Amino acid sequence: MSEGAYAEYAAVDARHCLPVPLGWSMVEAASLPETTFTVWANVFQAAALQPGETVLVHGGSSGIGLTLIQVAHALGSRALATAGSDAKCRACEEFGAAMCVNYRAQDFEQAFKAEKINVILDMVGGDYTAKNLRLLEPDGRLQYINAMQGAKVELNLLDVMTKRLRMSGSMLRPRSAEFKAALAAEVEKHVWPLAASGQLRPVIYQTFPLAEAALAQQLMASSEHIGKILLVNEL
Ligand SMILES: NC(=O)c1ccc[n+]([C@@H]2O[C@H](COP(=O)([O-])OP(=O)(O)OC[C@H]3O[C@@H](n4cnc5c(N)ncnc54)[C@H](OP(=O)(O)O)[C@@H]3O)[C@@H](O)[C@H]2O)c1
Repeated sequence: MSEGAYAEYAAVDARHCLPVPLGWSMVEAASLPETTFTVWANVFQAAALQPGETVLVHGGSSGIGLTLIQVAHALGSRALATAGSDAKCRACEEFGAAMCVNYRAQDFEQAFKAEKINVILDMVGGDYTAKNLRLLEPDGRLQYINAMQGAKVELNLLDVMTKRLRMSGSMLRPRSAEFKAALAAEVEKHVWPLAASGQLRPVIYQTFPLAEAALAQQLMASSEHIGKILLVNEL
């Protein structure tokens, strides 16, 4: 199965399934696959974040953002974040971000000017792109998983050339079953131990019964949430 999560039953490739981590409930475990697979494939595989390096994640309080902050912190990297409110920034810092900037109150480029940023995970695009390129250290990596503020952007290629920057991005859904199987094995090896040890914790903002999926969508569109919104099938 590559899509269609709103279902009571799903047939899946067994290689894509992982065990419920020790100490996690089934509902908590349901918060893991989409975020951990996306974070591992983009930040640790494609952008090759190393221990000792600094990673900046935009949308830091999203399910993806809070997963990256926790995993990066646990594996010895420094995590920075942006988010849309002070409360969201507090959550990012509570889960391990060294610093979070409320982008509605402060220009993140100015705020992070003194930082040495090696990797940026961006889901915003638009005018963040030029700022991201200016912020990155030489040999920095800019990785896209969405472009909520616009996919057509203006950038200065001199930043790319002078600092030898690498820009890339990916979408998980269309990848092959083989790729997802290999990714699942990597995630189980590197991330599942963090879930079992408590270095990666579930961040569930609210659960809804499957019949109230529309309300869950409304909450997601409001952007009030911190972490994951889950649909629970109460059979
Ligand atoms: N490419 C892939 O394979 C892949 C896989 C999974 C998810 N994704 C994408 O990754 C993103 C995060 O996923 P999620 O499920 O964790 O989503 P989510 O919890 O809904 O988070 C989206 C976040 O983006 C922030 N945001 C929304 N509009 C923004 C804007 N214009 N400028 C800056 N921030 C903005 C929101 O909070 P604030 O604005 O208040 O900070 C929110 O925290 C989504 O865009 C999703 O589509 C991509």
